[in-house]
Amino acid sequence: MCGIIGCVGVTNSKQVLLEGLKTLEYRGYDSSGIAIFNKDNVNIVKAVGKLSQLQKKVNNQEMLGSHGIAHTRWATHGKVTEENAHPHIVGSISIVHNGIIENYRKLKTELLKDGVVFKSETDTEVIAHLLNNYYEKEKSLLQAVKKVKSVLQGSFALLVSSVKEPQTLVALKSGPPLLFARSNESYFFSSDSLAFQNYATEFFPLEDGDIIEVKKDKFSLLRDKNKNENKSKNENKNENENEIIDQKNLIWIKVSKDQYSLSKQSYKHFMLKEIFEQPQVSVQAISPYIDQVKMELLLPCKDLQQKIKKTKKIFIIACGTSFYAAMEAKYYIEKAAGVSVEVDTASEFRYRHTPIDQDDLVLLISQSGETADTLSVLRSLKEKEISVISLCNTKSSSIDRLSDFSYYMNAGVEVAVASTKAFVNSLIILNIFSEQIAKIKNKLTTTDEKDFVASMLSLPRLLGEVLDFSIAIKDKVEFLSKHKGFLFMGRGFSFPISMEGALKLKELVYLHAEAYSFGEMKHGPLALIDKNMLVIALVPKDEFYEKSLSNLEEVRSRGASIFGIGSYQDKELARLSTEHFFLPKITESFCWSLNPILASLPMQLLAYYFSDYLGHDVDQPRNLAKSVTVE
Ligand code: G6P
Repeated sequence: MCGIIGCVGVTNSKQVLLEGLKTLEYRGYDSSGIAIFNKDNVNIVKAVGKLSQLQKKVNNQEMLGSHGIAHTRWATHGKVTEENAHPHIVGSISIVHNGIIENYRKLKTELLKDGVVFKSETDTEVIAHLLNNYYEKEKSLLQAVKKVKSVLQGSFALLVSSVKEPQTLVALKSGPPLLFARSNESYFFSSDSLAFQNYATEFFPLEDGDIIEVKKDKFSLLRDKNKNENKSKNENKNENENEIIDQKNLIWIKVSKDQYSLSKQSYKHFMLKEIFEQPQVSVQAISPYIDQVKMELLLPCKDLQQKIKKTKKIFIIACGTSFYAAMEAKYYIEKAAGVSVEVDTASEFRYRHTPIDQDDLVLLISQSGETADTLSVLRSLKEKEISVISLCNTKSSSIDRLSDFSYYMNAGVEVAVASTKAFVNSLIILNIFSEQIAKIKNKLTTTDEKDFVASMLSLPRLLGEVLDFSIAIKDKVEFLSKHKGFLFMGRGFSFPISMEGALKLKELVYLHAEAYSFGEMKHGPLALIDKNMLVIALVPKDEFYEKSLSNLEEVRSRGASIFGIGSYQDKELARLSTEHFFLPKITESFCWSLNPILASLPMQLLAYYFSDYLGHDVDQPRNLAKSVTVE
């Protein structure tokens, strides 16, 4: 996690770096720091807490200079203190780091034996000491970085400068994302392209092992020579293995400004804004896959069609909210296309010994496209030559680039840590994907195809209708706050949405919430039911409706409070519930596939309003980060 940014050759580096840090705050927000270089001086300011604390401190300081580095931290090694915040300085060296150095204890012990005194508890300071030692001998920042690369193990993206080499910035990437951008004679590095979107015109992502040296208005890129033969990033590499890459061979990507990005507009929080963007961004999820004139589903490329035709099993792997989208996809694909689906979290799957056949398909879901566990699954699948499809929100992210086939959430930038619009757009694409598989396998009739397309086209309006009643959820916050524990329950298509609902509540409200399928209720959770427990029941009118209602009777007769969420004007659900919320009227025949998407919104609103009512930091919940780039 953590966000890093650096620039060389800009007129006001303080402003560029602070603006950039603001966009990177989702990657970590417990402390931050900035270093501006001016001739042979460096001015460093650090602050504990949100970025606003750093901003307050630097507002009163004149920090002139066209070259600098900055960092926003999510603590891994050492507490949240100014000493542990980046940049770290040792001798002439200043450094910011994202990632984890796995062999830092060994390296630190050796340095301690040599009499080195450490000021912080971080693994990063070890790198700074090593670099300083190498620099003293080599008198070249680039050579020092090459040397440090050969001793570090783990996952790291580094930006390094020395007051002895003005206007020089060296970057090294091995694991976490790092992008290099330019505009005329200004250069930028960052963990995310959002950070330089107002300043750079084009960028490219560094590959693992890349070192870039920027010196005033020039740069050179060094890449591992035997990249393909030498796949293990943890193997010690000889520093002479790099070669300078001819810049003519670089493929630059145009920096695009995201229309949804960085202003809350009139909303109190980014999360609320992102919830309310859903009707609009759902159109971007649907339209690339649908021919609205012929009312037909568009199919993926021929290669993927061939693979889908052959496949009998699909694995879907993801983390967090994306994992719950994967769970929903299992229900969709198995019903629509009759293909067996296995779902797992990436952190478990990467260490399982799961047999996968060459004809099996693997789909990875990741909003950021950078989640460490999911990326590691992708890398190990590539080694086994298994085809991988990705569903990402961030185009050109590591997972997007390394996968064989790409689907996109097209949700626009999501700033709030808790995912909302990317989740709903994932559900939409996965629903479409399941019907594409059905069509390719000749399991979708022409009538059903037209009905499905009509259902999809009605979604933006229906999402808007749910939001029209958001006030009804807001009004229930006091009722919610009377409870200490929350059981989210649903069956079938509603079960993954219940799980996502429980996750949202945990993330934002910091109270215990669990999800169970109604069918499992008698196997334990019923014992938890008392007046402090609220059952949030997802009971739309689908094939599981009657069974769920019977379960709800059982819950009710044991004295639980119930918050029922169900279909339009369902009197029976209203009778059984203490409080209720109805989804809009759906006339489409594919209502089984629309229900879970629509029911996601009350889950989001409930967690949002409850968290805000309790005065929590909705956009940046404690201890969490949006992009988990370490294991
Ligand atoms: C973190 C975020 C979650 C997200 C998960 C997976 O835990 O806080 O909101 O769902 O990572 O992220 P991904 O980018 O892979 O979807």
